[in-house]
Amino acid sequence: MDKIRVTGGNQLEGAITISGAKNAALPLMIASLLTEETLTLENVPHLADVESLIRILTNHGVDYRVEGKRKGQDSRQGRTIEFTAGAIVDTTAPYELVSRMRASFWVIGPLLARMGEARVSLPGGCAIGTRPVDLFIDVLARLGADIKIENGYAVATTADGLVGAHYEFPKVSVGATHVALMAATLAKGRTVLSNAAREPEVADLARCLKAMGARIEGEGSSTITIDGVERLGGARHRVLPDRIETGTYAIAVAMTGGNVLLEGARPELLESALEALRSAGVGVERENGGIRVTRGNEPIRAVDITTQPFPGFPTDLQAQFMALMTRADGTAEITETIFENRFMHVQELARLGAHINLDGQTAVVEGVDELHGAQVMATDLRASVSLVIAGLAARGTTTVNRVYHLDRGFERLEDKLSRCGAVIERVSE
Ligand code: EPZ
Repeated sequence: MDKIRVTGGNQLEGAITISGAKNAALPLMIASLLTEETLTLENVPHLADVESLIRILTNHGVDYRVEGKRKGQDSRQGRTIEFTAGAIVDTTAPYELVSRMRASFWVIGPLLARMGEARVSLPGGCAIGTRPVDLFIDVLARLGADIKIENGYAVATTADGLVGAHYEFPKVSVGATHVALMAATLAKGRTVLSNAAREPEVADLARCLKAMGARIEGEGSSTITIDGVERLGGARHRVLPDRIETGTYAIAVAMTGGNVLLEGARPELLESALEALRSAGVGVERENGGIRVTRGNEPIRAVDITTQPFPGFPTDLQAQFMALMTRADGTAEITETIFENRFMHVQELARLGAHINLDGQTAVVEGVDELHGAQVMATDLRASVSLVIAGLAARGTTTVNRVYHLDRGFERLEDKLSRCGAVIERVSE
């Protein structure tokens, strides 16, 4: 199994191109199930999760074609992939495929809306909490589906198609909002979703669905109104830049010091995280086509954060920010409110010499003068990258095991960091 070996101490200098967002690409790909015409997605990142979802979609009958590079196109740009669900040949998403990645459960929305039936295995994914599916079941039932859980599968049917309704989410859920949005595009009449997720990836999905002919208003706010249409058609859509990758590299520069331009990054997608970095004493400036992040020799200030749904501080940057706080001048409190078990990086950061005490959903991080390299391992994607970031600033060599977590969500991580001067390599065994 591959490992990443990082030797700390170098400042990061140069430029990093930000990839298309994993968490936008996945629902966009799933939206291709809603039409028999071709959905072309540009800027699709090359990630293990994208490949897993391609396997699931092809199992339902989706054909896909990766477009060749156009003349003058940079090899670092994401791929353009055409998805065509001419005929849905199977409405079952089996355990073997779905258990690897939670987002694959989301096929339930478009399959049900287009075919009137779906049988989807209950999901797996990163081990960051129990992650139930009650909200999906609740909202689809409100749209008229009959849903049962049978032998580990959610089995959904509708006799006469979905019917628009008003649904207020009792809790903000990105995935359940994606699914409700996709399902409602083909429902009869109007659907109003209240307390919907406002994440930029939800708005990106809505923009793509509109290009396919859907009638949607209010995306990006907590109330989304969808007027169902008879059918959707093809479209061409560019995946928005990855705000979590952006924040991760910004934190890496904050950690090591240096000066890096994050090319293609959009500051409005992660204002709360950039604000936390500014409070920590890091230079963050919008620059033509991206964000410039700088830190000189000044100390990192301790900053308390609490994760919240968008536009609050993202849970997907919590582990990385904690890594930064391990080197802060003072004590920071980091509170996780989205997932109940998202502190697995704490004990691994401690192996590098961090001082962190857990108090329920809050981690109290007391900054130390120095981290030192060690063997570490992580059980989820963002936790793994927090260990890489910590390793970049640790004395000596850090080996991060179980790299497959990183490959799920970070495109060419070692390449991007080493181009900026980091000493980092992948070791295959
Ligand atoms: C999405 O997961 C992201 N995944 C996650 O990123 C991200 O951490 C999360 O949103 C929150 O921002 C993708 O976009 C592919 P939720 P999702 O439904 O949709 C509870 C990463 O590292 N809940 O918004 O699964 C749930 O348990 C990943 O890229 C229910 O209770 O998250 C959680 O506590 C990890 N019942 C909260 O809601 C439900 O039916 C928010 O989860 C559904 C969710």
